[in-house]
Amino acid sequence: MNMILLGPPGAGKGTQAQRIVRSEGIVQLSTGDMLRAAIAAGSDIGRKAEAVMAEGKLVSDDIVVGIVAERFTMPDCANGFLLDGFPRTQAQAEALDEVLADAGLKIDFVVQIEVDEAQLIGRIGGRFSCPNCGAAYHDKFNRPEVDGVCDSCGGTEFTRRPDDTAEAMTVRLDAYNTETAPLLPYYKARGALVTVDGMAEIDDVTRQIMAVI
Ligand code: AP5
Ligand code: MG
Ligand code: ZN
Repeated sequence: MNMILLGPPGAGKGTQAQRIVRSEGIVQLSTGDMLRAAIAAGSDIGRKAEAVMAEGKLVSDDIVVGIVAERFTMPDCANGFLLDGFPRTQAQAEALDEVLADAGLKIDFVVQIEVDEAQLIGRIGGRFSCPNCGAAYHDKFNRPEVDGVCDSCGGTEFTRRPDDTAEAMTVRLDAYNTETAPLLPYYKARGALVTVDGMAEIDDVTRQIMAVI
């Protein structure tokens, strides 16, 4: 099964992706995570992306299409993949159609996670994650079971993203509204789009997604 998770910054794409891939035995392909890994590794792509991401703007289509196209043909994706944060522009959606067709693959579901803008800002403000295993948390909505200890790996250090500031969030929301939201009618026209209520609690959103895939 191959699927796309679409939604604004803070909608819960990463949170839900981690749960879905675990239960379905597929691979999470998050372009945001891949770019952050490139920055941490100090690669060429990382150097090009770092300042753009910190400001909340979109990285160029060429770069992200390149990293995704290379990734989903790897053997661990044979059982399927979940795209988290890609595609984000019309050009990326069209490029994805092409590379999938070349590989003889298709997207089975596009799941839109819908959340009010006011709620998104609160979610981003409280977010932190475990750099060791990638598990995502929130100061109010999703704390580790034991304070200061990662549920998944026992790690005790956490990080916050440099683009989780009020300023960058304004730019990220704007990028979503102008560049990414127009993909909703694009996928709806193909009958592939399912919308879930992302205002619900995390477990409930997972249930809504599992019910449709
Ligand atoms: P990316 O990493 O994709 O960030 P984003 O789209 O802004 O989304 P987030 O990761 O911030 O939010 P999320 O939906 O994953 O929410 P989460 O589950 O963490 O991209 C970052 C940057 O990389 C972009 O700005 C761009 O520069 C670049 N980039 C990436 N892909 C690109 C592309 N394709 N093209 C060009 N540039 C690209 O949840 C948020 C918080 O809320 C967490 O704390 C969580 O615990 C909490 N939470 C989740 N669900 C709920 C719930 N139901 N109720 C209460 N709290 C919840
Ligand atoms: Mg994310
Ligand atoms: Zn961890």
